[in-house]
Amino acid sequence: MTSMWMTTKMVPLRATILSVLLVTSIIILTVSHQSLNSLSPAASTAAAESVDLRSSAHQAALAKHARNASLGFGEIVYISMPDRTDRQDAMNLLASSSGLKLKLSPGVNGSHVSPKAIPDEAPQGIRPSVLGCYRAHANAWRYLLESDMDSILIFEDDLDWNPNIKDTMETLSMQMQNSKIRVKEPSDYERANAPYGLDWDILYVGSWRHGTHPDYRDVTQIWDDPDLPDGAILKGGSKYSVGQALKDYGLTDEEFGKKRVLAPSYWTLKTTAYAITRQGAQRLLFLLSYAGNLKHGDIDQDITRLFEEGKLRGYTLTPPAFSQFKVGGTKDSDNIKEGTTTEGKGNLGGHNFFLKGSARQMMLDKLKLDNWEEYRRFREE
Ligand SMILES: *[C@@H]1O[C@H](CO)[C@@H](O)[C@H](O)[C@H]1NC(C)=O
Ligand SMILES: *[C@@H]1O[C@H](CO)[C@@H](O)[C@H](O)[C@H]1NC(C)=O
Repeated sequence: MTSMWMTTKMVPLRATILSVLLVTSIIILTVSHQSLNSLSPAASTAAAESVDLRSSAHQAALAKHARNASLGFGEIVYISMPDRTDRQDAMNLLASSSGLKLKLSPGVNGSHVSPKAIPDEAPQGIRPSVLGCYRAHANAWRYLLESDMDSILIFEDDLDWNPNIKDTMETLSMQMQNSKIRVKEPSDYERANAPYGLDWDILYVGSWRHGTHPDYRDVTQIWDDPDLPDGAILKGGSKYSVGQALKDYGLTDEEFGKKRVLAPSYWTLKTTAYAITRQGAQRLLFLLSYAGNLKHGDIDQDITRLFEEGKLRGYTLTPPAFSQFKVGGTKDSDNIKEGTTTEGKGNLGGHNFFLKGSARQMMLDKLKLDNWEEYRRFREE
């Protein structure tokens, strides 16, 4: 009898448990389906039909993507020679301390590039290190085309940035969504999905030389930015200095250190940090590899020549948001003759350029610990 009682009682109980489980799993499935959807571009495009893409609320929400672990680009990749594990450690540390995610794109030893693969117009006797550098960047462009991302941000492996980098990028996104320097209106796809638009091939956010096109110095987007170094640091310098560029753009002395400028790239050297779109990756691979137009050999020199010739469209951020981090000595370069000695002050003595603060310094401050001192105080309390 006991067992009878148990079975009759058990059936409804089991049914209840089953239906609770069923309802719960339906809820879980629905919720996870929705959150998956909200991440996919297709769904945001679909949602865009009901959202006003021009509203400031939508723009602000899209600009928030600039605060994510890839700063609003598809991914951040950084180029580093496989043997520079010291720099990879540093970049990894720095990224994790800033809430960024980096993916290694291995540098290339130019001696291993087949003579058949050297671009037709490359200078005779191009140095292996120079050739390797071109090839490493070309591989990163290819990586974007092989993915289904709209853009990637490419870093070299010796960077620093200001601790407030996410604020800087969010503001840049708002400015680019309301850009006056585009030649075409943004498409609905860009308005829905691209925090920085997609009307450019290259977006230079970390470069060294900034020269302006003499006929288009008034084509600028200028805004107040609280995260700039002291104006005095930006002043002076030669023909292609950051200071000269800011002057060319029409900034007054008082505006130095208070305003940032986005303008068409014309003379922009060093590939410290730049983003590319799919179209940019295609143009670069086409011009420099397929058409063999690597005339100078140094990748940044060739890119800047293509800007001058009008074959590539770029925007340059002045002052830049990313800087090289120099430690002094031969550790600073993988672009030197073989067999040179390694010396220098090391990371702790390094410095950046044109930044307000240093994410590297912030990292040191965060990691500093005096364990026994903390125990001593803990005991006293
Ligand atoms: C950051 O935002 C961009 C733009 O929406 C997106 O493509 C990318 O996947 C996001 N990255 C991360 C790590 O969430
Ligand atoms: C590049 O490869 C050559 C040939 O294998 C080698 O001799 C040289 O040391 C390599 N250079 C670097 C920087 O690894």
